Amino acid sequence: MTANENQNKVNIQQHEKTEFESIIDYAMLNGGIGFMAMKGFGKTRTLFSIANYLQQQPKIRVLIFDPSDAWLYSYSKIPVFNIADNDITIKEQKTSMDMEQFSFNTWKLTELALRSNKDLLIRLKSKSPSKRGFAIRTIINYLDDLQRSEKERSPTHENKFSIAYIIEEFSDCMNNRLTARLEAETFLSLFNEARNFSEAFFTCQQYECDSAKTLRVKQISALGKLSESQKMPYHRKLERLYNLNLSDMKPRTWLIEGKKITVPNWSQVGKPFIINRTLRAQYSQTQQKKKYPSFAKALTLTLLGLNHWYMA
Ligand SMILES: Nc1ncnc2c1ncn2[C@@H]1O[C@H](COP(=O)(O)OP(=O)(O)OP(=O)(O)O)[C@@H](O)[C@H]1O
Ligand SMILES: [Mg+2]
Repeated sequence: MTANENQNKVNIQQHEKTEFESIIDYAMLNGGIGFMAMKGFGKTRTLFSIANYLQQQPKIRVLIFDPSDAWLYSYSKIPVFNIADNDITIKEQKTSMDMEQFSFNTWKLTELALRSNKDLLIRLKSKSPSKRGFAIRTIINYLDDLQRSEKERSPTHENKFSIAYIIEEFSDCMNNRLTARLEAETFLSLFNEARNFSEAFFTCQQYECDSAKTLRVKQISALGKLSESQKMPYHRKLERLYNLNLSDMKPRTWLIEGKKITVPNWSQVGKPFIINRTLRAQYSQTQQKKKYPSFAKALTLTLLGLNHWYMA
């Protein structure tokens, strides 16, 4: 083997994906991963490592929903868009066909944030699980619509980007009670069909019964350390099948499809930064431009008697 071939081999080995990276690639095509483990096991740090890996992929958008502020203080550099409690308010129900009980008062700004950033950390400041659930459903529905129409228009029926939705503390925004309601039915089918439109969900939670089964079964399951009280009969079956005790899982180790996968040690690089103020300035500038056309344009419009279109 020549020195050149040797170097090539080293280069290939250096770029070979780790088992952890390969499983994320696989999950991007198969609905995502639902992580379940006891308190403090490392669910959030695992999602950090996943987001960090996916952010480096030029063709993957990463949308993180964080109701707990864990990401704002401990994740690496990423733009953060705040959704405040009063950005979402109770809507007046006009007809019995009105499913959603809330309205999104800052939707235009949210839309701008989604359109102008490849990756975004969406911080849900409201403490109400119903409002959090509504915000997540609305945003994901909007992006899913864009994916669907792009796929339809594309001659090869492909999407330019895949989207990874990362939802921290899934049960705090999508619990059983919320997903059983009628307004969540669209989201349930979206979740089930997401993989057909290059979308995947990475979520974490502490208890099995916290979120709807219809959601869970569409993801790959990852189990970390479980306390005896968390174990369901099928967990005990898995323990027998793979000859292990889920209460003894080592830190940073997950059982995924019968394999023990180790996640990297997390270390923070840079800090998340809030973009609301910059975005609002950008948004009001575009609104102003719409309202006041350039002098030459205004003159032409006046001469043509059409300036009322601009002031509308
Ligand atoms: N991959 C990791 N890299 C570095 N530290 C880790 C990792 N996983 C877990 N830890 C350690 O364990 C602690 C808890 O991790 P983390 O907050 O991710 O757990 P959690 O399961 O999300 O906890 P909670 O149930 O409270 O949300 C961290 O502060 C860190 O010290
Ligand atoms: Mg956590």
